[in-house]
Amino acid sequence: MIPYKHEPFTDFSQEANKKAFEEALALVSQELGKDYPLVIGGKHVTTEDKIVSVNPANKEEIVGRVSKATQAHAEDAMQAAVTAFETWKFVNPSVRADVLFKAANIIRKRKHEFSAYLVKEAGKPWNEADADTAEAIDFLEYYARQMLVLKDGKKVESRPGEYNRYDYIPLGVGVIISPWNFPLAIMAGTAVAAIVAGNPILLKPASTTPVVAAKFVEVMEQAGLPAGVLNFIPGPGAEVGDYLVDHPKTRFISFTGSRDVGLRINERASKLNDGQIWLKRVIAEMGGKDTMVIDESADLDYAADMITKAAFGFSGQKCSACSRVVALDSVYDELLEKVVANTAKLSIGNPVDVTNNVGPVIDAAAFKKITSYFDIAKQEGRIAAGGTADDSTGFFVSPTVVADVQPTDRLMQEEIFGPVVAFTKAKDFKEAIAIANNTEYGLTGAVITQDRTNQEYARANFHVGNLYFNRGCTGAIVGYQPFGGFNMSGTDSKAGGPDYLTLHLQAKTTSEMF
Ligand code: NAD
Ligand code: ALA
Repeated sequence: MIPYKHEPFTDFSQEANKKAFEEALALVSQELGKDYPLVIGGKHVTTEDKIVSVNPANKEEIVGRVSKATQAHAEDAMQAAVTAFETWKFVNPSVRADVLFKAANIIRKRKHEFSAYLVKEAGKPWNEADADTAEAIDFLEYYARQMLVLKDGKKVESRPGEYNRYDYIPLGVGVIISPWNFPLAIMAGTAVAAIVAGNPILLKPASTTPVVAAKFVEVMEQAGLPAGVLNFIPGPGAEVGDYLVDHPKTRFISFTGSRDVGLRINERASKLNDGQIWLKRVIAEMGGKDTMVIDESADLDYAADMITKAAFGFSGQKCSACSRVVALDSVYDELLEKVVANTAKLSIGNPVDVTNNVGPVIDAAAFKKITSYFDIAKQEGRIAAGGTADDSTGFFVSPTVVADVQPTDRLMQEEIFGPVVAFTKAKDFKEAIAIANNTEYGLTGAVITQDRTNQEYARANFHVGNLYFNRGCTGAIVGYQPFGGFNMSGTDSKAGGPDYLTLHLQAKTTSEMF
């Protein structure tokens, strides 16, 4: 077995890579507007009613039309999954892992094609799309290997005349509900973790990015996944989502998305429904309000580069994005000036063009929500860069830096989920960490410092699931920086980590006397 190593990112400064990506974009452009079916029990089901996926950089461009599941389809899919569980749970875990290895290989061979879909459907700049596809491959490769580690259970002690075993067995049918911001990586990662552990799933992707999910489902079919193990049922969250969360045959729910929807799922899943004989397990990875702390020992050019990348990569639409900067008084003005200067150099526009490093936000609702914070920003602080937007062709919001806000202001507390970063001052490092901790979230954070005492103080006191030193707060790599947050950021499931698969398994103790 080749040891796990993360998929390398593509260097687009190489002419050959650039050309290959342009060819993939051209290929995908020819395929735009196609229809995609639901998949229920291995059957492709086409509905009249469709989810129309639109390019957020160009509202005129239809990426695809995806069949829309109703509650009746969700019920059919549940029955198919319940049936499939009776066989899939007994399939040798190594064989289940092989399906993931094969799927990883298929996606790797068509890597730029998948990334090109991410450019068109999610508005990702090339490098962000490439990272999303690489992460999907990583999840497949990593979880397949993790299953090979767990398949023989864990060691327990036995006394003379006794043979004890501790094995992991699958849970049952899982409902996978994924967000649009990592439409390939998170959707695929949460789906295949459940599947490789022996659980059939019902996959409900976000309604803004169903085409790339449909493409992934095709890959899993090609990789040899049996009928009924992956049921694909895109549909309205409130209608299909609530139905499946409430369903008595749902054994677990793996959700990634906003705080409010996560809380709703957690609450509904805790209620016992007729015919239900278990406590539903909920994996819920939710929002973030992520802080970068800069002290007086930091290299300010480096800090400004890290902030700019973490705040404005994929237009700030990452749960991990830097939306708060806490700088010590002595470096605040200079740091702010450098971030404002960096921001002025960013190029906003349709990400089909590699020179545009800031694309659109996902849709009209996101555009409205993000731009509504401009007035709040003027009341709470001062807009030092950006603060403009244009939705005439696509949903473009300029990277926005807001200076001089107070730690308890709305801009410092609410997840805006767009290219807006707020700056505040602290008188010393302890106060900076106290400000960083002063949100209900606890997902990522970063500290830029050359001071070991400060670093160790942050390691002990900065309460986030992913804490980074001397780098930005985005870009966790599967198998290297397991990902998940504290408090209202969710259940800290640590996707891409050594404990993740066990959340999709139950441990069975057997004890034999002889
Ligand atoms: P969202 O909560 O609006 O939607 C997520 C998914 O939930 C979608 O598939 C949606 O259709 C579905 N949904 C909506 N209502 C539902 C209901 N009542 N029952 C069941 N499902 C329902 O989130 P989003 O806008 O797609 O994604 C952005 C959010 O996700 C941000 O808050 C971001 O921070 C968070 N996020 C978190 C992580 C993480 O790992 N912590 C990763 C990515 C995104
Ligand atoms: N896993 C993604 C990151 O770390 C969200 O940026």
